[in-house]
Amino acid sequence: MSAQKILQAAVDAALADFDVSNVAPETLQVVAASNPQFGDYQWNGALPLAKALKQKPRDIATRVLEKLDVSSIAESPEIAGPGFLNFRLKTDWLEQALETARQSERLGVETAETPQRYIVDFSSPNVAKPMHVGHIRSTIIGAAIVRMLRFQGHEVISDNHIGDWGTAFGKIIVGWKSELDEANLAADPIGEMERLYKLINERGKTDSAVEDAARFETAKLQAGDAENLAIWGRVRDLSQQQFDHIYSRLDISFDETLGESFYNPRLPSLVNELIEQGLARESNGAIAIFSDRQGEPKDDPFLIFTDGEWRDAPALIRKSDGASLYATTDLATLEYRIKTWQPDEIVYVTDARQAGHFKQFFAAFRRWMPAEKVRLYHVAFGMILGEDRTPLKTREGGTVKLAALLDEAVERSLAIVREKQPDLDEETAQHIAQVVGISAVKYADLSQNRASDYIFSWDKMLAMTGNSAVYMLYAYARPRSIFRKAQAEGIDVSTAAPRLTEPGEIELAKVLLRFDEALTGSLRDYRLNILTDYIYELAGAFSAFYRDCRVLDAPDDVRASRLALCDLTARTLQQGLQLLGIQTLEQM
Ligand code: ARG
Repeated sequence: MSAQKILQAAVDAALADFDVSNVAPETLQVVAASNPQFGDYQWNGALPLAKALKQKPRDIATRVLEKLDVSSIAESPEIAGPGFLNFRLKTDWLEQALETARQSERLGVETAETPQRYIVDFSSPNVAKPMHVGHIRSTIIGAAIVRMLRFQGHEVISDNHIGDWGTAFGKIIVGWKSELDEANLAADPIGEMERLYKLINERGKTDSAVEDAARFETAKLQAGDAENLAIWGRVRDLSQQQFDHIYSRLDISFDETLGESFYNPRLPSLVNELIEQGLARESNGAIAIFSDRQGEPKDDPFLIFTDGEWRDAPALIRKSDGASLYATTDLATLEYRIKTWQPDEIVYVTDARQAGHFKQFFAAFRRWMPAEKVRLYHVAFGMILGEDRTPLKTREGGTVKLAALLDEAVERSLAIVREKQPDLDEETAQHIAQVVGISAVKYADLSQNRASDYIFSWDKMLAMTGNSAVYMLYAYARPRSIFRKAQAEGIDVSTAAPRLTEPGEIELAKVLLRFDEALTGSLRDYRLNILTDYIYELAGAFSAFYRDCRVLDAPDDVRASRLALCDLTARTLQQGLQLLGIQTLEQM
């Protein structure tokens, strides 16, 4: 069990006689100490508890302390300041916990007490369009969430909710029937489909006949016209091939790929149901969901404050021409997922600009199925900006395509590898460049606070130092190379239960034993940068240890103990990176 969990259990037991019903549970948590001066962990709960019970925090802390037994793990705690409890972990507990971690496949990380079923809806690109950098964030963050939840023992269904339906198809079909360039389609399918769409879209702006034709083709498609369905099918298949190519480069797969079209047959009846239940009503020929004016206006996603008053901001679910919308499909999708899988939670990974949509759609769903307990979570992320702080663009001013971005990452990595190690054979250099390039793109994304926009920088991404993939890959390769070198020199590399005496060893041990906490902390609010920060910290702790403590030329028993620390560091780094979708290299 992690140190945090053990201390928490002890504090909870000591709190048994207190009335904590008026205190927010998160304020009663044992947390990592904000400053190593105060020890390793601290409990600040005496303050909120004192407030609720109208007593002095120090008195509360004293009473808790009287009941508290943490002797198996920590030195006797002290009360500091107004009533904080500080804990310092005992070295023999650290040694024993390290040994448990070392002997375990899972590095001592426990699986969830109550495994749950999750659906993670991520990546979800749109057909006939190249995946752009916005989809990269969803793909990378979503895949990491899936891996981490699974590692914790949860059951996860990953579902790629491809945008494969909608009015854009009418335009593509008009273009396909009149302007298709077969050679171009063979060479660059997505490029050709995008060209057709843009061409007809432009024409439609000035020529209403073209607009009408597109609407006509959409209607025919929806009515099941064989020719249009065949075109739609090809557009979808060709797009999927491109997506799959990118997924294989990123080493990402899905359990389900149920696009928007899958839910299309359900949409008309769903809209009627919502009307019958009084949830949706007619508005200017369209159908929309309005506020029920039940809650606080500021928390009501169907209201907006303009010109000094709260006005309706309804969610459209059927346009006046009968076409359905994004929200309609999302409601149908949610209904299907609940029926099919009975999930405990559904996680949607999209950019933050869709936050309004998800608020409305979640609220609409709660009104539609008030008894449903499923948790709904929108993991929103910011934009990727160029150096000029506007959304990332190509040199020509176009949107950056994901495939081109990955190519460039690998190319730049190859140049660096060749420069640093001119003697490497071609195959090894290519392999390293592949891993470094893809890892760099993933790590740069995952190490950001997901909610903020971030500035894309090749230099930072491929830097050898700092919080970058390259540094992490080195951090992993370093302990591995210690073993390799020693073996080559005929040194005994057996490991033994770690004994901690030097500060460098103790510090490294404490960081190693926080892996579980980093993982749990990271998943609490889907903040993956908590895990990357942890990995970065671990790499730093290892560097300091290796700088201060001799390993290979230490006496036999010390060497075996320190090699065990090296090995555990490498395994923890590898496991952490693997959860983020980052492959390691034995040699750099
Ligand atoms: N296709 C959408 C887009 O590219 C993302 C879909 C996300 N998932 C969902 N259930 N709405 O923006």
